Amino acid sequence: MTPARVHPDAAALARAAADLLIHAADSAIRDHGSFTVALAGGSTPKAMYTLLAAGPAPIDWPRTEVFFGDERCIPPDHPDSNYRTAHESLLSRVPLAADHIHRIRGELGPHAAADHYESLLRRRFAAGPGVTTFDLVLLGLGADGHTLSLFPGHDFAADGDRWCIPAVAPPASPVRDRVSLTLEAVARARSAVFLIAGPDKAPALARLRTALPAGRAEIPASLIRCRSEVIWLTDRAAEG
Ligand code: 6PG
Repeated sequence: MTPARVHPDAAALARAAADLLIHAADSAIRDHGSFTVALAGGSTPKAMYTLLAAGPAPIDWPRTEVFFGDERCIPPDHPDSNYRTAHESLLSRVPLAADHIHRIRGELGPHAAADHYESLLRRRFAAGPGVTTFDLVLLGLGADGHTLSLFPGHDFAADGDRWCIPAVAPPASPVRDRVSLTLEAVARARSAVFLIAGPDKAPALARLRTALPAGRAEIPASLIRCRSEVIWLTDRAAEG
């Protein structure tokens, strides 16, 4: 595991994450004329999204395409929708064309939504053995060690070479039926960044560190790889 970049608090982490995304977009657009990013769900990224939406456009939005790492199987205007969170705090506030926002249609149900997104990704990234997917994947860490909607107990072998799959969250989760990118989809991405803030993440982050470098299936976040080094942005509270 590359050393985490530890920030004093969640606000400083959000600023650092926004700056990292701005740099990634600039590099990608200079390198190949476009920037593709998969947004993280949950609440941690909201502060970063708000920063990106404020002030002069730090990102060449017309050359940017936004995807999602995972989604709950609920309507896009539901309070628990990852799309709604991103739409309210960022996507509705920046000059992104509607056809540059690729929402996971969770309302179709887990299997139909996953199949739809799989086809969308394969068309967009022209699948093949050496194909690269996203320029950047943003990720969160759950208190149980999950990331995306890949939870402890997930049958990773069943995912095969898929890039998007139906998933199920634990019984205590707000929405159990999910759709998620797979480890394979992230492994093909140029870069992946974890945003981990708050004391409730400290146990999972500590367990994750003991699982590396090999990674353990019971801590799905420890299995994340990408084409470069995974970047870890944490705050002091998450470091325990
Ligand atoms: C989801 C997320 C999930 C999230 C973590 C952290 O849909 O729940 O994609 O993987 O990133 O649970 O969530 P918080 O940022 O809210 O702690």
